[in-house]
Amino acid sequence: MQLTARVALFPLLPYRVVEIAIGMADPTDPSDSPKAAADVAGAAIPSDVVPHDEADDSDAGYDSATSTRASTSISSSVRDYAFENSRRYHKFQEGRYQFPNDEPEQEREDMKHAMVVHLCNGSLHYAPLEKPQRILDLGTGTGIWAIDMGDEYPEADVLGVDLSPIQPNWVPPNVRFVVDDIEADWIQPRESLDYVHIRHMASSIRDWPALLSRAYEALAPGAWLETQELRFELECDDGTLKETNQVAEFFGNVKKGLDVFGIDLLSMLRNRQRLVDAGFVNVEERVFKIPLGTWPKDERMKTIGLYNRSMVQDALQGVSIKPFIHGLGWTMEQIEVYLVGVRRDLADARQHAYIPFHVVTGQKPGVKGK
Ligand SMILES: C[S@@+](CC[C@H](N)C(=O)[O-])C[C@H]1O[C@@H](n2cnc3c(N)ncnc32)[C@H](O)[C@@H]1O
Repeated sequence: MQLTARVALFPLLPYRVVEIAIGMADPTDPSDSPKAAADVAGAAIPSDVVPHDEADDSDAGYDSATSTRASTSISSSVRDYAFENSRRYHKFQEGRYQFPNDEPEQEREDMKHAMVVHLCNGSLHYAPLEKPQRILDLGTGTGIWAIDMGDEYPEADVLGVDLSPIQPNWVPPNVRFVVDDIEADWIQPRESLDYVHIRHMASSIRDWPALLSRAYEALAPGAWLETQELRFELECDDGTLKETNQVAEFFGNVKKGLDVFGIDLLSMLRNRQRLVDAGFVNVEERVFKIPLGTWPKDERMKTIGLYNRSMVQDALQGVSIKPFIHGLGWTMEQIEVYLVGVRRDLADARQHAYIPFHVVTGQKPGVKGK
């Protein structure tokens, strides 16, 4: 499998990026240097690569004008985008992920990150990590979690993998991003990782057991895996949620639409058991309540609820286009009319709904370093 990747030249400052073709990289393998990777690709990468122009550090992702001549042809398809109904989608392995990757969606993902970190009192993970060296973030999105982890663990190498090249160029020197399909075969060396992080991927993954078993193989004995997933179903503890709530119905329709693509939006309900089945031990699940709206009395939860409501509000169009049109056979006009009622119920503070958030951690048996 040959993939297009961005490899950070991290001994150099200022931070620079070059695009080359490699297999899914080992975050710490020195042979994954740009020169070695160029050899894998058979491409002659010049010793002095062309740095990304700061002016190109936009949402547009990679600009072929800034890549090396040797890499232009292999990387251009990765940097292309697909468009539908005014929204932008990934082109590499086109059709694999059903939600957009454009600027509004990236802002929404970053808001979701802020909400979850606030909910978790600033923690980026629940797995009890001890001096992790090699961290892999599957489906890294904008890379915001990977970047924060790179800052929190400056001794660790953090690799973020995604179908979309939407991560920023200027990141901590120990953070790298690769464009790849995490559901394809991995060439990650066995027992090479200390931590695998999987967050907000229920809307993406078709085969969880296969993904978990690949991660298990790649984790070192004693290393940890963690999944963090919002469960897009409305719950309520005080009887104020109406049976007719259209936000709840909307989530149900997104689930039905994704079902057609072989994706289970509620897959987190089985993550705990799946980790056990994959061989992990010390498996623990935590479930948090994330209010939808500003109805809580507690100021902190009110703020989190505000984030949540904005995040859902901004999701409505983007997450419905592909599942509703291609999965359920709706038209764009039907979607727009339908969303009016969904927005009305979303704004109704009399209904005290919340969205559950499931965190599952598990450890590969064995002792670290042995
Ligand atoms: C909802 S976002 C979550 C982003 C990130 N994990 C976070 O928590 O901020 C899902 C991301 O997974 C990526 N993705 C979906 N399927 C993928 C696949 N098969 N391989 C790699 N990335 C994938 C998408 O491109 C998207 O950026």
